[in-house]
This record gives sequence, C-alpha cells and structure tokens, in this order.
Amino acid sequence: MTTAHVRLGVIGAGNVGRAFVRLLNDQTRRVALVDAATATLEIVGVAVRDASRPRSGIDSSLLVEDPLALAAREDVDIVVELAGGIEPTRTWIETALRRGASVVTGNKALMAECGTALATLANDNRADLLYEASVAGAIPIIRALRTSLAGEKINRVLGIVNGTTNFILSQMTSEGWGYDEALDEAKRLGYAETDPTADVEAFDAAAKVQILSSLAIGTALHGEPISREGIRTVRSVDVEFARRAGYVIKLIGVVERVGESGISRRTHPALIPLEHPLAAVHGAMNAVFIEGDQSGPLMWLGQGAGGVPTATAVLGDVLHAARNRVAGRHDIPFTVDDRLVSVDAGDLSSVFYLSIDVRDEPGVLAQVAGVFGQHDVSIQSMEQSGFAHEARLAFLTHAARARDVTSTLRGLDQLAAVDSIGACIRVIDGGGA
Ligand SMILES: NC(=O)c1ccc[n+]([C@@H]2O[C@H](COP(=O)([O-])OP(=O)(O)OC[C@H]3O[C@@H](n4cnc5c(N)ncnc54)[C@H](OP(=O)(O)O)[C@@H]3O)[C@@H](O)[C@H]2O)c1
Repeated sequence: MTTAHVRLGVIGAGNVGRAFVRLLNDQTRRVALVDAATATLEIVGVAVRDASRPRSGIDSSLLVEDPLALAAREDVDIVVELAGGIEPTRTWIETALRRGASVVTGNKALMAECGTALATLANDNRADLLYEASVAGAIPIIRALRTSLAGEKINRVLGIVNGTTNFILSQMTSEGWGYDEALDEAKRLGYAETDPTADVEAFDAAAKVQILSSLAIGTALHGEPISREGIRTVRSVDVEFARRAGYVIKLIGVVERVGESGISRRTHPALIPLEHPLAAVHGAMNAVFIEGDQSGPLMWLGQGAGGVPTATAVLGDVLHAARNRVAGRHDIPFTVDDRLVSVDAGDLSSVFYLSIDVRDEPGVLAQVAGVFGQHDVSIQSMEQSGFAHEARLAFLTHAARARDVTSTLRGLDQLAAVDSIGACIRVIDGGGA
C-alpha cells in the first residue's frame, strides 16, 4: 500500500511558524508523524513579509512573499496560518477554505471575531478549520472539549489564559513588587510586548474566553464584546490584603451558565482562595479549570505561550487534518445554541473585596457602614490600616449583586471622609474544587 502525501503551505515564520517547521522536519519524529498523519507531510511554501531574510531551519527556496497566492495554490492541502491579525489574514483563510483546503491556525483574535462564519465555510467545503493553538498554547483544551467532554454539560470554565498577566501578578505576590516593576521584569524576560495593552487590558484573555465559551457552552463566535477588566489597577496593597485573607489575585477568564439559558462571559482580576487549584498556577503558566455537571472538576495546566510549546498544538492539528484528508472526512463545526442569552455582569452576585482610602476621623466607620446598608451590601469582614491621611479600609462583603456594589462605591465616593476608592475585585468561590 502506498502512503498518501499531504502538502502544507505555512503562512508566517515567526516564533510559532519557525518552531512548527522545525518540529515537522525533525527526523527523530518522522516515523511517528507519518504514523499519526497516515501520510507523508511536505512543506511546499512558507510565506513571510521579507523573503530575502534567511530563516534558520527553513530552506530559503520555500520562502515566498504572497500569502494569498500560497493559500490559493491548488497543490496545497493544508494551510497553516501563523501570521496573526484580522485582515488580510481572514481573506487568506477564506481563500484556502473555499477551494476545500483545510486550515490550521493559532489566531485567537480572528477566531473570536469571525470563528462561526469561518467554521461554516470550512464545513460547506468539506474542509477542517482547527485552532488548538489559539487558546492556552500547548494545553490540548479545545480537543478535550470537542471530543472527551462533548457529551458533558459544562457549568463553568475558569481559565488563567494569559501568561503575561499571570507572571506580573505572580511577581507582585511573591516579591511584593508594584505593578510597574513587575511589568518591567515581564518585558525584560520577553513575557510582555513593548506595548502590553492586549495582555494587561485583557483583550487577549477575552478572545480566549470567547473561544472556550463556544466549545464549552455553544455561544457563537462573531466578535460580540464581552465584559473585560484588566490588571492595571491592581495594587500591591490589594495583593498583600489578599494574601493575609487567604487568597491570591489572578486575572481569570470566566464562562458560566446562569440558570437554564443564561451565560456570563468575562475577564477580570479575582481573589482565588489559596486552596483552589488555580491559586497554585504561578509565573507564565496557563491553566483551564472546568466544572462539569457529571465529571466534576477537571484542570489542565501547561505552557500557554512560547513558539515551541505552541507549535506542538499546531502540529497536533496538522496531523489530525492530514489524517482526515486521507480518510476523506472532516470534523463538523461546534454547534451554536441560539437559546443562550448573555446575562449582564451587573446582575451577577459574588463576594467582593473593596478598599477605600479614608480620613482617620471619628464617625467615618459609621458613615461608611451606612452606605453599605443603603445598598443592601452586607459586610463579612473589615480591616483598617494606616492612620491620618493614609488610612485605608478593606472589606470582604457577603455575596452581593455587582450592580449594588457599584452603587455602594458611588455612594462612598460622595462621602467627604473618603479620599478615593481603591479596589473592587470579585472573589471566586471554591466551586467544584
Ligand atoms: N507566540 C506565541 O507564544 C503564541 C501563542 C499562541 C498563539 N499565537 C498566535 O500565533 C500566531 C503567530 O504568532 P507569532 O508569535 O509566531 O508571531 P510573529 O513572531 O510576529 O510572526 C509572524 C510571522 O508572520 C509573518 N507575516 C505577518 N504578516 C504578514 C504578511 N502580511 N505577509 C506575509 N507574512 C506575514 C511575519 O513575516 P516576517 O517574519 O517577514 O515579519 C512573521 O514571520 C498569532 O496569531 C499569535 O496570536 C502565538
């Protein structure tokens, strides 16, 4: 029996693209790759912006500068998109899918923006659209949701899906650093970009939450914005309060069922109880914690970024797509559940950590407690620190509606004795942990 032959066109030879080509050409893996793909695999072109620049590990004769032409080439069976961005990347992928080529991508921004339309196009053309590398790097969470957990009702997904922010918050926790110092260290070590906005303002995490939600619950991927809060406002005093109270602050992505057909998708910093498995996810690591109806809690931990770990997820998808092509089949896209309704984050209840800077004067506590009472937010515990103009009050509330907590903060801000509002951070319950 002759072995089938599958041809790949790779768009992008940056961190992930280069690592992917190296893995695919690694002779020590050759037998395993042919076995997994049920085919021999050949890279026939690698598109970059500047083909005159040599790329280590990539034969210069393969380099081209026209990704669209590579995506359109009839002899390319699988297009591996590792360039990033929305346009013209979307056009390249659509071009490949329209002629029935499969596409493997690590592009979370694009999948969050138009994943449903692209998945439909792939299905219409009997091709695969696979994107394991788009969420949590090397962690095989997409395949787990699509296959092993396909029949499970998933109630909640909590993810630490951005390594940069987890590194920054971990440094603030372990070293007692401020946000700026921890961000500088993340930049020095290559964990943060020169412009860290996508990470620290949680755009990156929000796109991953959208993708997890589509697979876990069945929401569509069409660029609908979700509630997003980053970590710029987290201060070292908040991190220190959390530690004393038995918590650690993490940026988390949340996908949560609310009642029968409600869904909440959001990213925000949260106080995680130290006994929760996510509290032990340090540095630039990623983790996804799933609460299944019947499975109970499950957690995946691993490297969420970096060229080589991410390339392993790309390679897994390429092997799967190759196997599918040889067998003349393709994966069906995830089903969108049209009955799902987004619940406003303001309507959700949780315990909150709040802090305010106040003047150290008689009667201040009574005034502050009065404002909490007016808005039906009850106080679980309070801590006072500092004195004179440096006094600080920190509270843990009982479970309260976010909308009422916001009104409380607005009311507190009106008090003459309150100098400023410090923090307002949700506390994650132990859930299925
Ligand atoms: N890096 C990670 O850890 C990681 C993790 C998970 C997912 N991802 C995703 O993987 C993708 C690639 O990330 P990366 O870090 O490898 O990016 P990168 O290092 O910036 O590399 C991008 C590559 O794409 C090429 N490229 C970009 N625009 C192009 C255009 N218009 N025409 C031709 N070539 C073009 C670049 O060519 P030149 O080399 O000539 O500039 C470069 O080789 C992104 O979608 C990213 O979100 C990355």
